[in-house]
Amino acid sequence: MMQLRRYFLACVLVLALPVHAAEKPGKAAIASAHKLATEAGFEVLGMGGNAFDAAVAVSAALSVVEPQSSGIGGGAFFLLHRVSDGRQVMLDAREMAPGATDARQYLDAKGELDRDKSVNGPLAAGIPGEPAALVWMAEHYGKLPLKKSLAPAIRLARNGFAPDARSLMFLGLRKDVIARDPGASALFLPKGTVPVQGWVLKNPDLAKTLEIIADKGHAGFYSGEYATKLVDGVKKIGGNWSLDDLARYQVKEREPIVFQYRGHQVVTAPPPSSGGIALAEMLNILQGYDLSKIRGVERTHLVVEAMRRAYRDRAEYLGDPDFVKMPVAELISPLYAAGLRASIHPKKATPSDSLPGFMAPAQGTDTTHFSIIDADGNLVAATQTVNLPYGAAVVVPGTGFLLNNEMDDFALKAGVPNAYGLVGGDANAPRPYRRPLSSMTPTFVVGPERTLVIGTPGGSRIITMVLEGILAWFDGDAPQKLVDNKRYHHQFLPDVISIEKDTFSLDERKQLQQMGHTLSEGERPWGFMNAVDWNRQSGELRGGSDSRGVSGTALVK
Ligand code: DON
Repeated sequence: MMQLRRYFLACVLVLALPVHAAEKPGKAAIASAHKLATEAGFEVLGMGGNAFDAAVAVSAALSVVEPQSSGIGGGAFFLLHRVSDGRQVMLDAREMAPGATDARQYLDAKGELDRDKSVNGPLAAGIPGEPAALVWMAEHYGKLPLKKSLAPAIRLARNGFAPDARSLMFLGLRKDVIARDPGASALFLPKGTVPVQGWVLKNPDLAKTLEIIADKGHAGFYSGEYATKLVDGVKKIGGNWSLDDLARYQVKEREPIVFQYRGHQVVTAPPPSSGGIALAEMLNILQGYDLSKIRGVERTHLVVEAMRRAYRDRAEYLGDPDFVKMPVAELISPLYAAGLRASIHPKKATPSDSLPGFMAPAQGTDTTHFSIIDADGNLVAATQTVNLPYGAAVVVPGTGFLLNNEMDDFALKAGVPNAYGLVGGDANAPRPYRRPLSSMTPTFVVGPERTLVIGTPGGSRIITMVLEGILAWFDGDAPQKLVDNKRYHHQFLPDVISIEKDTFSLDERKQLQQMGHTLSEGERPWGFMNAVDWNRQSGELRGGSDSRGVSGTALVK
């Protein structure tokens, strides 16, 4: 019976797919966290490239100009929609745990999690996926050779650029850890200190690394001379990578999570991201209310209750799909959401400890997202990261890139929060060759008349930010407005609604408290959302880059 129902649902979904293969925007839109990266994308479109070539250019340029957020030593998810055949796929270029991974490496003598080891230095680093993704995307989806699509990034690395105030602010935050590593401090702390604005960062080693990738493709980075240099360098500073780890690394093509919301198809990130499943749960719950008529506190309450329930399931079930069996079809089904919806009281908060399961708080720090629609209507939503700002804060001399600290995204010790306050258990335990669970949620929303491409950094808050962005888009907000909107977040435990300054009025806060909610206002804003949309009726393309980031740039041309 259940199977029949699923078959019926699948048929309805297929029939409901919006058809727009013949339509073209005629222009392109790119929104990214840095002007130089957005421009790199347009440069490559100008050479005759498509959205996927532009994504290679933007991604690689961000790796150069936003070293605090992402890089060649990190990982990424690229969500792609190809117009020519309607293919929708997510390239999983998430970092992979090295073969020597052993959870005990991250514990101190008393058996407690040693946070320094899980986020600083080479043990924090998974095997990078970013180089593999650039090559895969160019070879399988692009029109141009890597020599062309990587040219802007190579130029930026070699000629230099002036890091923006945000980069320097994060450098200040991570200065003490960077100072411990000769490779990282030679690059980022000239004269032993954080440089002032106007300083030009030239990175010829990174230019050479990118050239090797452009010349020799995947093998140029993951095997041979370059791999030997990298593995030796990692070992020398206390890491445990092997040549076999690098040789094993592969991009995985994953089928996206797809579901319907208010007559639109939502295409989003599958595991090892938790984002798409949580987004589906939340939107499926909210689909049962007429949100176009429900405003203010009443609406916030319902959205928070949806968040609370989805984040409970995240900790319980999700991990690397190649290692862990997950009830994905159930979690994203409207029937399951209906059950969750029925447990929501319209006027009273559900205490998280009355629901089964566990989880804790989160902080957004850095990572980066960009969104592209090209003149043919190809779409790319990409979120890429080295995890915390400046990753593990180590650079193998001669490579020019920081290693990530993505190992901290595993539940290194069951039930003990990671840097974002997220906890987990077996499903996300560190094991050789596993990919750590992520919150990165690159997403498309495709309706009969319009398309949205959206995503953001922000640690565990990524998923609720994408949710709020989508809800605002359905309310009629333009991309620039929806990326700038004030935010709120709930992740089951701690049982609080985190808010930015001025998210709610005093009166709204009082009403939410009367419903049983606890509010916690943070010092800093969070996220750096970049979104583009296309209205097929009017032909208009629009972009929005979060005003919270200083160099974010959305262009349409
Ligand atoms: O994959 C994840 O979920 C995290 N490593 C993302 C980190 C992040 O977004 C930090 N940024 N603001």
